Amino acid sequence: MAPKEIRWGILATGGIAETFTKDLLVDPATRNVHNVKHTVVAAASSSSVSRAQEFLKTVGAPSSAQAYGSYEELVKDDNIDIVYVATPHSHHYQNVMLCLEAGKNVLCEKAFTVNAAQAKKLVETARQKNLFLMEAVWTRYFPLSIYVRDAITSGKLGSVLRVSADNSTGMVPEETFNTEHRMVNPDLAGGVLLDMGIYSLTWVFQTLYTTQDPKTRKPPHVVSSMQRYPVTGADELTTMLLTFPRDAENGGDMHAIASAGFRTSNNIDSKGTAGPAVRIQGTKGEMQVWPPIFRPTRTRLILADGTTEDKTWAQPGPGQGSGWYNGFGSKKNAEGEGHGMFWEADEAATALLEGRKEGKYESLDESLVIMEVMDEVRKQNGLKYPEKIETTERITL
Ligand SMILES: NC(=O)c1ccc[n+]([C@@H]2O[C@H](COP(=O)([O-])OP(=O)(O)OC[C@H]3O[C@@H](n4cnc5c(N)ncnc54)[C@H](OP(=O)(O)O)[C@@H]3O)[C@@H](O)[C@H]2O)c1
Repeated sequence: MAPKEIRWGILATGGIAETFTKDLLVDPATRNVHNVKHTVVAAASSSSVSRAQEFLKTVGAPSSAQAYGSYEELVKDDNIDIVYVATPHSHHYQNVMLCLEAGKNVLCEKAFTVNAAQAKKLVETARQKNLFLMEAVWTRYFPLSIYVRDAITSGKLGSVLRVSADNSTGMVPEETFNTEHRMVNPDLAGGVLLDMGIYSLTWVFQTLYTTQDPKTRKPPHVVSSMQRYPVTGADELTTMLLTFPRDAENGGDMHAIASAGFRTSNNIDSKGTAGPAVRIQGTKGEMQVWPPIFRPTRTRLILADGTTEDKTWAQPGPGQGSGWYNGFGSKKNAEGEGHGMFWEADEAATALLEGRKEGKYESLDESLVIMEVMDEVRKQNGLKYPEKIETTERITL
């Protein structure tokens, strides 16, 4: 059967919008996906039509793609099947609500929203309007993540008792970001918890929560510590200790440590010698995942029976000699190597084909539980953002 075409509208023209849209336009057959084909029919910039035009040109969108100088115009475009929202997370609630109110399906970048109340309203609205909504936690859709979850659900690791996951960048924030930058600016919900800690929580949740029976699993209890970035007051080092309740006959409670930091590093010498940044420990073995944990390409399975399995996970794409490049920010991937964002796009498109309203590997209810954990961590450490970005009122930011 010929692949079904899914028509995307891109809302925002920043760094990740560019990476995602380039990946979107890679032929899905290069990764053995044959049911869907993605096209970009429109993009919008909040600043100007010319910025949207420039963006469409940079990503290599078809010349027929429409450029808009406002998000309000984009969501009125009848040719769009689904909108990808790639504004800073401070703006997700207002931007996603705009899409849903206009009857559009949405794939929204992480962190889903600033707080759980906002996420809840979006989920309620999507359900009322029978629209598809998914948090774009791309890592969950990697074949590597599917392999790790399978190692747990198949019982290979025995009863999993503990997971640790760290996402750290090893940078000096004073030298890397000005105070307006979304990574440290409280007006844009800056800080390591919402931007980077979400990946540590992703690994903890997709191993200890997603793999449990949805009918009986329970949200975790959390205690946490946070250190603030003195320049803006955003968090720069956040550490969470989570306890996931589980019945005694299934192995009892599970523990996790999820952490994120600017100044700490997962890859201190840039040679990959620092070891794994995720460890999933069970009674029969351990699974390790090498950093960066948002785009991992290497795993090691170590079993108590002496088995060791090392795997590397390629990022498919148009390949060498194609003259095509992707990457994020100043980091360029090898020629023809995809970034890995297409797998979540394939899932969103497949869900539309099948009439599903949520992503397969992270339900909306799970996104809500994770937002509630991040709310609790912020509450424990007194981190509040300005009311205009915490509100569930519909306002113009
Ligand atoms: N999945 C991943 O690997 C990944 C990586 C990086 C970031 N992200 C997520 O993606 C989102 C965007 O991150 P980014 O790195 O792409 O940010 P960015 O480069 O700063 O781009 C954000 C874009 O949002 C639009 N925007 C609208 N109002 C804005 C405002 N008040 N301030 C700044 N920008 C505004 C702008 O585009 P126009 O005005 O042209 O519309 C801007 O270019 C964040 O939620 C982040 O957590 C995900």
